[in-house]
Amino acid sequence: MHILALNSSPRDHETSKTELVLQKFLEGAERAGASAETLYLRNYKINHCLGCYSCWVQTPGRCVQKDDMTEVLFDKYLQADLVVLASPIYHATMNARMKLFVERTLPMMDPLAEMGEAGGTPHRFDKMPRVVTLSVCGFWEQSMFEALSLTWRLCLGGDLIAEIYRHSSEFLSVPEFQPQVQAVLDALSQAGEEVARQGQVNPATMAALTQDLAPADTLARLSREFWSPGGTG
Ligand SMILES: Cc1cc2nc3c(=O)[nH]c(=O)nc-3n(C[C@H](O)[C@H](O)[C@H](O)COP(=O)(O)O)c2cc1C
Repeated sequence: MHILALNSSPRDHETSKTELVLQKFLEGAERAGASAETLYLRNYKINHCLGCYSCWVQTPGRCVQKDDMTEVLFDKYLQADLVVLASPIYHATMNARMKLFVERTLPMMDPLAEMGEAGGTPHRFDKMPRVVTLSVCGFWEQSMFEALSLTWRLCLGGDLIAEIYRHSSEFLSVPEFQPQVQAVLDALSQAGEEVARQGQVNPATMAALTQDLAPADTLARLSREFWSPGGTG
């Protein structure tokens, strides 16, 4: 199984929590025999979709623009067995860079094809990768992922095989939560292994990777201290 991971965080490897969570997941998948490649969308020039529908009418399956989406990313997506779409939560959904990428996948859709039973937009190509969506958010509530999850389910339909969402992301680097953080990281790696082996994440693994690091009021207090003048933020 070849996995293509697309990470849309603008932050570097040391600070990005999307990267931390993603690499743990991929580590587990590789342990199960998968190969994985991570591409950082910040390194690619992706134009906005022009909304011209040329990819449905004049050049079916191909966008008329020339940029890194048409030259690199589009074909890599189609060649993968599994794609991991990894975005931080910005304003309760995927960030703009990931949205830009997703809008440029329009040529993969065929307006004349039948809608599959599992929903999602009908495909033009016979071979489409399975998809795992992955995200992190700063707040300490899993509900912060509701809009993102709904969007991915509507867009990806039956291609979507697992959703990996980790709240309280910035606390993953706070030393005082280390025992719990280690349990979360181990569960993320386990989730990667399960997806590679069986195409889904076991409920116990999902519970472990979404576990609270501390009571919500403790995290709220620490967050306020971090961002206050004189804090470490
Ligand atoms: C512009 C912006 C908007 C954000 N919006 C939210 C939000 O709506 N909810 C939330 O829980 N966290 C939000 N965050 C926090 C990020 O999700 C969090 O810092 C995350 O770790 C960022 O991922 P990264 O470290 O991989 O870049 C936001 C951060 C930024 C910079």
